[in-house]
Amino acid sequence: MTDQVIIFDTTLRDGEQSPGASMNTAEKLRLAIKLEKLGIDVIEAGFPAASEGDFEAVSRISEEIRGCEIAGLARTSIEDIDRAWAAISNAAKPRIHTFIATSDIHMKYKLNMSREDVIASAVKAVKHAKSFTDNVEFSAEDGSRSDRDFLCDIFEATINAGATTVNLPDTVGYAIPQEFAELVGYVKKNTPNMNKAILSVHCHNDLGLATANTLAAITAGARQVEVTLNGIGERAGNTSLEEVVMSLKTRPNFFPMNTNIDTKRIHPTSRLVSMITGIIVQPNKAIVGANAFAHEAGIHQDGVLKNPMTYEIMQPESVGLSSNKLVLGKHSGRHALKSHLKEMGYDLSEDELKTVFTQFKILADKKKHVHDEDLEALITEGILQITDIFSLEYLHVSSGTTVHPTASVALSINGRSVKGTAYGNGPIDSAFNAIADLTGTESELLRFSVSALTGGTDAQGEVTVRLGEKGIIALGRGADADIITASAKAYLNGLNRLEYLKKNPVTASEVL
Ligand code: KIV
Ligand code: ZN
Repeated sequence: MTDQVIIFDTTLRDGEQSPGASMNTAEKLRLAIKLEKLGIDVIEAGFPAASEGDFEAVSRISEEIRGCEIAGLARTSIEDIDRAWAAISNAAKPRIHTFIATSDIHMKYKLNMSREDVIASAVKAVKHAKSFTDNVEFSAEDGSRSDRDFLCDIFEATINAGATTVNLPDTVGYAIPQEFAELVGYVKKNTPNMNKAILSVHCHNDLGLATANTLAAITAGARQVEVTLNGIGERAGNTSLEEVVMSLKTRPNFFPMNTNIDTKRIHPTSRLVSMITGIIVQPNKAIVGANAFAHEAGIHQDGVLKNPMTYEIMQPESVGLSSNKLVLGKHSGRHALKSHLKEMGYDLSEDELKTVFTQFKILADKKKHVHDEDLEALITEGILQITDIFSLEYLHVSSGTTVHPTASVALSINGRSVKGTAYGNGPIDSAFNAIADLTGTESELLRFSVSALTGGTDAQGEVTVRLGEKGIIALGRGADADIITASAKAYLNGLNRLEYLKKNPVTASEVL
């Protein structure tokens, strides 16, 4: 008999704790819709007590998403749990996820609490959560560095208090697969009432072992895994959803387990996460990296042409990478666009479609073939960023081997048009200088990177910037067939995110 592994996605909560990766409510909702289509069982939508922004996003997602459980994170305080419940109470399937640290080092230095106090606080929290919903998860933060018998004690007590899932996190990414599997097996065997709850794991990737630890935990009996798309998350990130799901699928003899994930949707969802957060997926990233299915060596190419199984352990199509990704051109109509977007998982309203169609026509005029990646970029920019403070009205640059690079820029700032001109070392530098003058930003450009969305010289350039101001970090992203315009869009997107972060200064990572 094959077992079911519950996929708990925390891209919107732990994933958002990646430095600079904050998402606004519209972006979170868009991603949650994609996660639902991907087949996620539990979406951890945020940490409602952390900030007003988090509360609002969790509430919106709870109202909209009907097919998945929606979890709200809470410390063990009554206020946190009340706040989490207020945010998720409209969900079709709400879950309160409460946590407290259980390692000696955390209890002594962070919490200043005894083991007895920690158990009492966890039990009180679970009972309070249980007064709102049957679906309660308890996490023992820093579980992998906790005393194993104490873990069994706190899990036994919280299950008795009503927890239906107990989660063992490797919060600091310290565990080694064999050791983690032993710990999971020990806790499963020595927690007397473990048969009344699902045992879950939540790993971080500080030693690059998050996926290995998660898989080892599954073999030892864990039946829920907490993961993020592209492995984004605090510090070195969390366990990557795509790596775990595809390991289970690719090695069924080793893992006789199922998930509800529609793996063909992995790649588009990964792209959306990258676009929304501005965090680029490294090219050699397993499953979703640009090179994950690219065969460079001649012998490999020859083998794959003769039989893909020579060098491919998974089919690219199985993760949503089609070999023929050419989709639309300048003669494609509104209807074709609408139905193709629907196939990609975007059910747009008439107004949204109108915006995207106008941008699509402009792009199709510049670029012969419009690919899925191009459409995703249009959607991200055309729909998700409508509440922006700064937007680009026009950009003219003059540059070349014998002229001093100059940029003339017109921006809309809170709906007011402003224009300016600046010089720079090159066309991008001059455009950035003009934008900096017009917006009066005090931010510093910490990183700038460019890549191509698709192949060919007419490909859209995708630019990512990392901005910093007084300790706040924001990422910005922009795409355009013109690389200088893409850069200006990325800079403005970063500035908009910076403004958002200034207004919503408390993020989950500051509270945790
Ligand atoms: O890493 C961790 O321990 C967490 C908990 C809140 C589950 O994210
Ligand atoms: Zn975590």
